[in-house]
Amino acid sequence: MTMWKIGLIGAGYWSSRHLQAWQMIPNVMVTALCDPDLAKLSEKAHLYNIPEESLYLSAEEMVKEAEIDIVDVVTGPESHVALVELAAKAGKHVLCQKPFARTLEEGARMVAFAKQAGVRLMVTENWRWLEPFRCIKEMLNSGVIGAIHTVRYVHTDFYTPRMEPTVKLPQPVFREMPRLLFYEMGAHWFDVWRFLFGMPKRVYAELSQVSPYIAGEDNGIVVLGHEGFHGYMDMSWATRQQLDRPLSDSVAPVHLERLVIDGREGTLKLYTNGDISLINQHGSEERWIKHGTTLDHEESHVRLQTHFIECLNAGVDFDTSGADNMETLRLLFSVYESAEKHVAVYLAQ
Ligand SMILES: NC(=O)c1ccc[n+]([C@@H]2O[C@H](COP(=O)([O-])OP(=O)(O)OC[C@H]3O[C@@H](n4cnc5c(N)ncnc54)[C@H](O)[C@@H]3O)[C@@H](O)[C@H]2O)c1
Repeated sequence: MTMWKIGLIGAGYWSSRHLQAWQMIPNVMVTALCDPDLAKLSEKAHLYNIPEESLYLSAEEMVKEAEIDIVDVVTGPESHVALVELAAKAGKHVLCQKPFARTLEEGARMVAFAKQAGVRLMVTENWRWLEPFRCIKEMLNSGVIGAIHTVRYVHTDFYTPRMEPTVKLPQPVFREMPRLLFYEMGAHWFDVWRFLFGMPKRVYAELSQVSPYIAGEDNGIVVLGHEGFHGYMDMSWATRQQLDRPLSDSVAPVHLERLVIDGREGTLKLYTNGDISLINQHGSEERWIKHGTTLDHEESHVRLQTHFIECLNAGVDFDTSGADNMETLRLLFSVYESAEKHVAVYLAQ
């Protein structure tokens, strides 16, 4: 069995999820870690037992000198094109964080770099690997609710209104992002939507900025039209969500997801406490499918990164390859286009 050697770039906030998961997957070793920020680099090296000789302040140096087969890019989208190009041209397979690219053109360039170099490229879309969405996908695949006619997806948080300049945030970059909610989180939601329901044909969006402490939007509604059914996403980081858990002193996200999928033969429901139920055709009986599913990010990374390694071993396609993610990006950017122009955007298939 191949022992895959990983070089991880970006020792910031989310890199812990990646590093933890790599340690749990057989036949994988993190043999290099890179970040120009020495404090972050040293902290993660210490936490995950990565020896000093495996640490790099420059990605160029790491890719040139370290013994690695895979580059795991855990930086923001502004650095992706340069890092994916660097890794691909050095013949390394790439796992790249979302949002994959800032434009479709950037995404297409990265897909082309990997193709030309003959290396594999996957995007870290871990939300489709979260427990509630895996469970719902299984139920949909079983055909138990019949043909879908309506989807209602609601995400609530009361996060951005509490982002006063003096407050410490886990991801301070959120204050400056010109596109926030439907870009940063939207990358996940649109990937989950495609995973569960496929690519819509039309979208119409209304977006707004509620909090005065941010540059981008923190609130919006998107209507998605498919062949034979439609749905909406009602997403907000500025709504006083149902406070079924009290806000803590620290300002951190408390995401609550709610999903109702109506089919001709039944309705599937995900409640904000993670319970998933199935309501029968006549609406007279609600049966619990699973109680207390969670947004289990840590485990989702183990599933996602295991999928990456298994596909490399078997030489089969990734579920969220770079090329596949271009569709998620197309959907995501169409939302901004629709909101800016106040028109429906048609997505050619
Ligand atoms: N999948 C998820 O659920 C999830 C959750 C959080 C963040 N993310 C994504 O992960 C990415 C990173 O987010 P974060 O919160 O960890 O950011 P962060 O700012 O905390 O960390 C990024 C790190 O990358 C380093 N870096 C930037 N450019 C570099 C380069 N060229 N070479 C080497 N290092 C470089 C920075 O110094 C920084 O330490 C973002 O794209 C974010 O959207 C995904």
